[in-house]
Amino acid sequence: MEKILILNGSPRAPKSNSKRYAEIFMKHYPHEAVYRSVTPRNHLSLCKEIDDYTQVLFVFPLYADALPSGFLQFLKTLEAYPPARKPLISILINCGFLEHEQNEMAIRMIQLFCRRNGYSMGSILMLGSGEAILDTPFKYIATRKIRQLAQSIASGHYRTLTGTMPLSKTLFRMAAEIYWTRYGKRFGTSKRQMQTMEIEKTRFSQGVQ
Ligand SMILES: Cc1cc2nc3c(=O)[nH]c(=O)nc-3n(C[C@H](O)[C@H](O)[C@H](O)COP(=O)(O)O)c2cc1C
Repeated sequence: MEKILILNGSPRAPKSNSKRYAEIFMKHYPHEAVYRSVTPRNHLSLCKEIDDYTQVLFVFPLYADALPSGFLQFLKTLEAYPPARKPLISILINCGFLEHEQNEMAIRMIQLFCRRNGYSMGSILMLGSGEAILDTPFKYIATRKIRQLAQSIASGHYRTLTGTMPLSKTLFRMAAEIYWTRYGKRFGTSKRQMQTMEIEKTRFSQGVQ
């Protein structure tokens, strides 16, 4: 049957939104689904493991309008150590901003990777507001889209899907500001501090991911 290998390319994999999205996908995919996160140490073993699958789903976040660097490194390893049989590659990408279109550049990067390396593309789901949506009343939108993604892969009727919160940009920006200001407060960081570059130093010196 069409068992699928799900690869989570988020650098904060154990606590990532991508993991939550992958879990929803697994609930709705009607065949066996195996979940792995991409870590700096497991690139080669994942490249070998891909050999056992005809379907692979990349689940990852948008970072700086592109792919997280660790995931990019993994793709470089996959380029150097390709599987004997190439699986179909599907994508579930999420980004923090409201507009799912923000993900398009990263999708094009994977499409280029697939073209150059002889992989066929399956389905694609681009989610906007991906940091927030699962903890809002709009969770059902993400869940519905992920269910459609799972069904399309399982049935072989591949498609491109999109989803986000049905809010205006102004409302989304206001809600995001309230959320991040409260979030900062929990860690003793003020809004003013978050608006400076100093925040990066604090973040990294505390080892926050
Ligand atoms: C370093 C970094 C860069 C990001 N860059 C973008 C971006 O360019 N556009 C965007 O919409 N969201 C961006 N985000 C937000 C993430 O895509 C979003 O929070 C996502 O839900 C994280 O998923 P994860 O928990 O699976 O890593 C960025 C987040 C981080 C930490």
